Amino acid sequence: MNITFTRRDLIAGTAAGVGTVSLIGGSAGAAEVGSAPSPGVPIHTVLRINGREHRVSHDIRASLLDTLREHIGLTGTKKGCDHGQCGACTVHIDGKPKLSCLTLTVAAEGANVVTIEGLAPSPTQLHPMQQAFIDCDGFQCGYCTPGQIMSAVACVKEGFADDAGTIREFMSGNLCRCAAYPNIVKAIEQAKSSTGGA
Ligand code: FES
Ligand code: FES
Repeated sequence: MNITFTRRDLIAGTAAGVGTVSLIGGSAGAAEVGSAPSPGVPIHTVLRINGREHRVSHDIRASLLDTLREHIGLTGTKKGCDHGQCGACTVHIDGKPKLSCLTLTVAAEGANVVTIEGLAPSPTQLHPMQQAFIDCDGFQCGYCTPGQIMSAVACVKEGFADDAGTIREFMSGNLCRCAAYPNIVKAIEQAKSSTGGA
């Protein structure tokens, strides 16, 4: 289901209160041609997360972060600021790091979403970046860590892990209140050398 609606549609829908469900075809529920989805009325979206399909019922305004945590039970992705400022909610969407708190659930339909739970190659083997964070003490409380690791994987894959300066720049959107930054940089350098940058 691809839904195109503008901020004006959303505001107009909110002002009108709960009304008619108006999604068309695809995985949407009841349909009415030509009008925007109504906030407050559940819609259905099919998401592909960590290689599995999930059909979820949610408000049109729901963020991917809230859907992951509250509807699907994938609580590894953390809510820090919920405003796009801390990076705790970082996931991969079609291979790119994205802030799930700023991504509408409907916008993720049809995409491949990977969360921290889907990063390891098998239940008994960690991803090299996860192992590197452990080896290098790249965390203290651990709250920011899933988002740090998702961004760190992208940092290496996208070729920004050549030196500490470029790593810090790439990772600057991921805040750590415990200030584990030096060890996070070390972890990324270790993971890069152990994977050859893949
Ligand atoms: Fe998304 Fe902070 S929770 S950036
Ligand atoms: Fe505590 Fe980063 S390890 S916020």
